[in-house]
Amino acid sequence: MYVIGRPESHNGNSGLGDRPTHRRDLLRLFSLSALAGAIGCDGPSDSARPEASSPQTAPSTGFVPDVELVLTAAPDEVAVLPGEPTRVWHFTGHLLKGPADTLQIVPGSYLGPVIRLRRGQKVRVRFANQLAEDSIVHWHGLDVPESADGHPRLAVGHGREYVYEFEVTNRAGTYWYHPHPHMRTGAQVYQGLAGLLLVRDAEEDALALPSGGTELLCVLQDRQFDGRNQLVFHGGGMMGMMAMMNGFLGDRVLVNGQPLPTTEVDAAWHRVRLLNASNARIYKLAWSRDIQMAVIGGDGGLLEKPLHQQALTLAPGQRADLLLDLTSLAAGTEVHLESQAFAEADASVGGMMGMRGGPMMGMMGGRSNVPNGAPLRLMTLRTRARKGPAFRVPENLSSFDAAWSPSADATTRRVPLTFQRMEWSLGGRTFDMSDVAPEETVAAGSTHLWEFANLINPMGMQAAHPIHMHGRQFRVVNRTGGRATNTLRAGLADGGWRDTVLVLPGETVRVQVTFTRHPGLYLYHCHILEHEDMGMMRNFRVT
Ligand code: C2O
Ligand code: CU
Ligand code: CU
Repeated sequence: MYVIGRPESHNGNSGLGDRPTHRRDLLRLFSLSALAGAIGCDGPSDSARPEASSPQTAPSTGFVPDVELVLTAAPDEVAVLPGEPTRVWHFTGHLLKGPADTLQIVPGSYLGPVIRLRRGQKVRVRFANQLAEDSIVHWHGLDVPESADGHPRLAVGHGREYVYEFEVTNRAGTYWYHPHPHMRTGAQVYQGLAGLLLVRDAEEDALALPSGGTELLCVLQDRQFDGRNQLVFHGGGMMGMMAMMNGFLGDRVLVNGQPLPTTEVDAAWHRVRLLNASNARIYKLAWSRDIQMAVIGGDGGLLEKPLHQQALTLAPGQRADLLLDLTSLAAGTEVHLESQAFAEADASVGGMMGMRGGPMMGMMGGRSNVPNGAPLRLMTLRTRARKGPAFRVPENLSSFDAAWSPSADATTRRVPLTFQRMEWSLGGRTFDMSDVAPEETVAAGSTHLWEFANLINPMGMQAAHPIHMHGRQFRVVNRTGGRATNTLRAGLADGGWRDTVLVLPGETVRVQVTFTRHPGLYLYHCHILEHEDMGMMRNFRVT
């Protein structure tokens, strides 16, 4: 497996201390500004009071792990742009027990190690928080017990440890991990805290997909840098609030933490696994030279059959697994991964009091100069003379779908996605640390239909929301409404198992989910991290 990136190895910890986090009280700042009075947020401490739950700060004796590792979040610095190194926050891993290839460092990157697991393994992760603020790790896409899901009420402070114990029951697939603290997920992911988690299983092994040097891992994230190569995130006040409302967009895209990497590859079939770990940017991915991609997997593992697509829409939180045929390319040919242009209005409509994109927004600088939908080049593959082994895209990838059928009689719940009282909301409510509404209470293992309805609201604020559910993967049953002319539509891949679905402006997307068998408090939310942090997140309780 090859992680696209810079060849030289990572320059270790620079010994930077915990630098003051000037933006930690962003929302508190807002509540001081005139406009944000309406947000009515009291800051983390008040609502962060834990309910009787199951924080785990020590290993349990009955649990015998196959894999045990320490995952530390700490300040670090890394070379991203020429010149001064960039101060980041970085997950580092240390394997205590298990196969030697469990952890793979991403060379020269702030990204955490790739964690490679197999279905059936029992895993213990000791998360050590060396940040100056609270944090907790969530395993995005994995079906784990409540105590291992990284709910914000379980966050631990500086110098503390949280112990995760779970069995990998998910299918082979491309999952990931990132922090999930109350109102700080966006900031912590932006500072660098994220990593891939790959699961393998026997069904996938049998396909003998391209691996080793022909398996490419690509994490897409947009960032903004100042003149001294330091990350710029939104500040307080009006400008910061607008960035929160719209979602923060950087002005350049990094792949595995590096701008526009070029990678030498064999003229062979490649498996390309993509994760959109951006805070708010949507990509409409395509390869130059009209190279077609066979989409073989989504968030929750392999599709039943490959889909041949020219473009692929990938929203924050989502993953894609592709096969790419580079066998006929002459040595030295360059193929670029691009994000195709789409109308900004396809991802975000209207504006709070007409400000979005208007002269006032420009003046305040709250709008990225690379808006959602701007065409972008993301990375380059350059072929060398060497060929790869013969390979054919399998006609059938997985029989897992055979176990699924649409349910006609499952309980249906409509979940409006709206902008009201100056905040994004989910089902008419915003996040509260332990609050669960009756319709958010579900029986373990029961099947429900949830309909995410992206409604036009009186203020004209509307956005494409990637809605994510913790616990089990779900199926998209149908997608109705919206504008037929939305250019993101052509790239949507709704097939297979997903944990994050993009709901375009005006659309209603119905998903069928069979909830986890683990009882407890889980989350569902918009994966635009600024929306999540502002409260476009709710608990559901599995009983
Ligand atoms: Cu990837 Cu609750 O998040
Ligand atoms: Cu998740
Ligand atoms: Cu959203």
